[in-house]
Amino acid sequence: MTARVEPLPHGERPALDTLISRFDSGSAAVEVNFRRLMPSVTPPRGGHAIHPYPAKLLVNIPQFFLAALCPDHGDKLLDPFCGSGTVLYEAALAGLRPLGSDSNPLARLVTRAKLTSINRDVVGDELALIMQRYPMLAPDIPDVINLDYWFSDRISQTLGKLRAAIAQCVSTRHRPLFDVSFSATVKRVSYADPRLSVPVKINPARSARYGAKGDEVLRRLARLENVDVAAVFWSIVSQNSRRLRQVREGDAEIPFTIFDDARALNLADASIDIAITSPPYVGAQKYIRASSLSLGWLGFTPECKLRPHERVSIGREHLGAEEIWQTEGTGILAADALLDEIAARNPLRARIAQRYLLEMRDALAELARVMRTGADLILVVGPNLVAGFEFPTPAFLEELARRAGFATHLHLIDSIESRGLMTKRNRTAGVIQQESVFLLKRGPVDV
Ligand SMILES: C[S@@+](CC[C@H](N)C(=O)[O-])C[C@H]1O[C@@H](n2cnc3c(N)ncnc32)[C@H](O)[C@@H]1O
Repeated sequence: MTARVEPLPHGERPALDTLISRFDSGSAAVEVNFRRLMPSVTPPRGGHAIHPYPAKLLVNIPQFFLAALCPDHGDKLLDPFCGSGTVLYEAALAGLRPLGSDSNPLARLVTRAKLTSINRDVVGDELALIMQRYPMLAPDIPDVINLDYWFSDRISQTLGKLRAAIAQCVSTRHRPLFDVSFSATVKRVSYADPRLSVPVKINPARSARYGAKGDEVLRRLARLENVDVAAVFWSIVSQNSRRLRQVREGDAEIPFTIFDDARALNLADASIDIAITSPPYVGAQKYIRASSLSLGWLGFTPECKLRPHERVSIGREHLGAEEIWQTEGTGILAADALLDEIAARNPLRARIAQRYLLEMRDALAELARVMRTGADLILVVGPNLVAGFEFPTPAFLEELARRAGFATHLHLIDSIESRGLMTKRNRTAGVIQQESVFLLKRGPVDV
């Protein structure tokens, strides 16, 4: 099921119409480079950098489609797997009404921070008040998994005091910006290796294996001895406030909505005009684990439990006992045959991949329900390996989308240089090197 690919002549930067007619004439996926198709947008979007997030979407992709498809001002754009809000932020800047969902509370928070307009003077006043008050406050330390393993006692105490001060000094409107900046601070002052998305403790005994950046990692570890946590927080809030202001004029509020689960959107039928999304990958992405320190410090893991968040996360690596024994096929012949082959080598991996397809089927059905006839869906997804087998996720999701009521108008393939969290696990998870970008259209609704 691997797509045939037609490369573009060297140096060509065609418009969307040209790409569609090239695809129509050969129906092979057309190879593009989105960095070349949509090289730069001014002013630069500082807001995208307010917080790290695994596997952020290449911003050039939504920028290209928003420019090429020209949705009307005020149209409703949905990203059901919004992550850190890359698409929704671009949509808001393009004058659209952003709606999204994500099962990871950290993702929802980062998205909210990007979409909430701020008053920079008030942010400055609130930050000054925090700096003045935090030393006197009792530390408010929530349930954080393995707190003492990831943070020195001195650092935990200061983080706890800052957390208490944020709760006291910050207005509701600016809370997302301060919480996001606090979360970014947590990442900066933990013992986690900064080169990796999923927390792995820096281990000086292994520094020889750290490669070119080994010295830098060790210097960071040494700096943690005396790091001024409040100064780090102060500088991140100040920088984030500048980043968001670059593209936000005045105090204008952008109305936006963010739900939890792509499979249960509280939206009316046929109410969405356009959707752009990059769904999770099967088993390759550990969004919740990657966010665990932040989730803890933000108060999202009472009793130190990540499982409630993992359970709603599509592409998760842990299945509940009842899920492991469910044997419902996906209904796609090629997928079920491949899952049988995988099961012969690794039954658990086969179940994880099967569950992924079933849950993506439900998410695509929900997407089809809320999109109006004729609306465009941009779906960005790459293949990966499952237990050593190439798993053609793009072809399977395209088929699921077709069954949900979408028709393919264009299939592009872009080679990606780097997407965070593409960790190679035991040589079986695989690294995603190419992404498929589909332009699909919602067909007429059956009556
Ligand atoms: C590839 S990432 C999206 C990245 C995003 N485009 C960005 O630029 O940050 C996929 C996202 O799907 C989310 N996700 C997983 N299961 C979900 C579900 N049931 N409903 C909504 N989002 C879900 C993950 O938490 C993750 O943030």
